[in-house]
This record gives sequence, structure tokens and C-alpha cells, in this order.
Amino acid sequence: MTDSTFTFTDLQRVPQSALPALLKRMPKAELHIHIEGSLEPEMIFQLAQRNGVSLTYPDVESLRRAYAFKDLQSFLDIYYAGASVLLHERDFEDMAWAYFQRAAADGVVHAELFFDPQTHTARGVPMGAVIEGLHRACQRAHAELGVHAELILCFLRHLSEEAALQTLEEALPWRDRFMGVGLDSSELGHPPSKFQRVFARARRLGLHVVAHAGEEGPPSYIYEALDLLQVERIDHGVQALQDTALMQRLVRDQIPLTVCPLSNVKLCVFGQLTAHNLRQMLELGACVSIHSDDPAYFGGYLLDNFQQTCDALQLNAWHAYQLARNSLQASFVSNEQRQIWLDQLEACCLRALSS
Ligand code: ADE
Ligand code: ZN
Repeated sequence: MTDSTFTFTDLQRVPQSALPALLKRMPKAELHIHIEGSLEPEMIFQLAQRNGVSLTYPDVESLRRAYAFKDLQSFLDIYYAGASVLLHERDFEDMAWAYFQRAAADGVVHAELFFDPQTHTARGVPMGAVIEGLHRACQRAHAELGVHAELILCFLRHLSEEAALQTLEEALPWRDRFMGVGLDSSELGHPPSKFQRVFARARRLGLHVVAHAGEEGPPSYIYEALDLLQVERIDHGVQALQDTALMQRLVRDQIPLTVCPLSNVKLCVFGQLTAHNLRQMLELGACVSIHSDDPAYFGGYLLDNFQQTCDALQLNAWHAYQLARNSLQASFVSNEQRQIWLDQLEACCLRALSS
């Protein structure tokens, strides 16, 4: 990892009024977005009509009103129902393309999209339709928007490891279309230790490995993800602060934590954004970055997450720089490409300092 170019004192000189423009302009990597969580209610209704799928909500407004969650599970129930309108390759492509247009406007230069194949194959959707549809949108994002995009296949942890192993085998004809595997869905009661064999298999295949841990679950799930699954990043990880030794290890080893502040508030992990522990973790030296999780459900895309978190936690340009930089450091891109974006990020901050 390269040393940070700017000190806290340097970047503190950027006036807070210049922060919104800086946040938008900074090149950022989106590393924690479930693409099915980018399905806006309007698109859910459009796809339902196109595909003849019936929904339990009569209209967009009543669906949106149901987005009042008390915890992760209450959200997942609605999220899986929303994903039921996705049937054909074109649906997956349209969903991801709509996301990329928003991402580009937010200054995202690189996105690693999570997708949940088991949610779709269980309804009879072919694996190829899911992966090829998403892949086409990724190619288009690069060609037309200049956004680099990759896919990460997630296993649903409320299902068995056997099902995850089968899913991985089923996806292997498209091995070159995804760069890694992840672990998502209902965390409590489904520890990472349940998925040791499938993660070992994924690692042997040369795939990157990440896992959700410490969103609602205890620090022991973060230890398991690191020690048993040997993950390269922890998704969420906000419960790590309960355990000093764990926090010290995350800082020492610079294990990236992909934190999703608006998600954490909507799912009641924190009572309000001002109570979020992101600033504390960042100031302890952890490699935390900001992401959007399921932006259509949680009230904001990447830039909204940055802006609202900076406001609520009174973050300045130094914090913003660290957060953007951590997102690039934590991404699975070549070192050459990473350096190009790090240089652009520096130029952006220099400009903010001199204006
Ligand atoms: N799937 C989609 N969003 C998720 C989240 N926040 N946690 C776990 N699984 C998810
Ligand atoms: Zn997530």
C-alpha cells in the first residue's frame, strides 16, 4: 500500500462548502452493491408488466411505503419479492444498465457488483440468463460510460453449503464472467464456518473471496470469515468495534471493511446516522470505505451515502480523501489501473486545495 499524499492538516484547509463538489468529482470504487438492490420500484412494476408477473402491491407508492424495515430479515423478505420480476437475460441487463448510469453520474469509476444467482435459478431462470445479462451491461458500462465493472457471485447463507457448492459448479461455464464470490442474506444463525468447503473451492479456482460479516452478527463471525474463509474484504464489519483485539488486527492487516451507512440506519443497525461508528473506525486507521448496499431500498446511491455521512459525522476533505482512497485500495483491479485512479484522486484534492 502506498503512503497517503495528504496529511490531515493539509486537507483540513479545504472549506466545508467545497466538500459536496469534491465528493462528486473524486474517483470512487463501488465495492458493495447488490445489483438486485438497485431495482427501483418503478422498474419492478415495468418488469412485472413486461413479464406477466403479479405483485402483491397494487402500485409503486404502496410498494415504496412498505420500505420500512426493522432489521435485515424484514428487508430481505421484500427484496427477494422484488427480484421475482427478473426472468430474462434482457431484464438483468436493463437493471444493471440503469444502475451504471446512476453510478457514472456519482463519480464511480469502478464497480464490483454482487449478484444472487440462487434467488433466480430457484425460480427456473437459467444461470446463463443471469450472468450474460449482467455481463452485457458491464461491457456497455465500460464502452459507453467509461465505468469499469466486474461481477461477484454471492451465495445465500440461509441455504445449505451443498446448495452453494452446486451453484458454483453450475456457474463454472461462465467462470471468466465473474471475478469472485461472496456471502450474503440472513446473517444471524448462519456463520461463515458453514461455508468453508465452498470458499476453499472458490479460492482453488482463483476467485477473489469476500463475505458479509458483522452487519448484525457478532465479532466471532468476522474472525471466522478471516480465518476459515480467508476472505480478502469484510462486507459491513461494523460490529468489529465491540472487540478491541479484532479492531487492532483489522487495522494492522489493513483488511478492507465495505461499510454502507444508509443501509445500516434503514436496517436499524444504528439508530441514526449521527450514531454511526464509521468516523471512529476511520480515525483508528481501519481501511473503511463507503458503499450503497441496496440503494433502491435504502434511500440513496453512492454519492448520497457519502454526502449524508459527511454531514451527519462532520467529516472533512481529509476523511473524504481517505474514504475514496480506501475504496480504490480495496478494489480487485490491477495495480497499474489503481495507480491511475489514485493519481486522479490526488489531482482532484490538489484542485480543491488551490481553489
Ligand atoms: N443482500 C442484500 N442486501 C443485503 C445485506 N445488507 N445484508 C445481507 N444480505 C444482503
Ligand atoms: Zn450487502
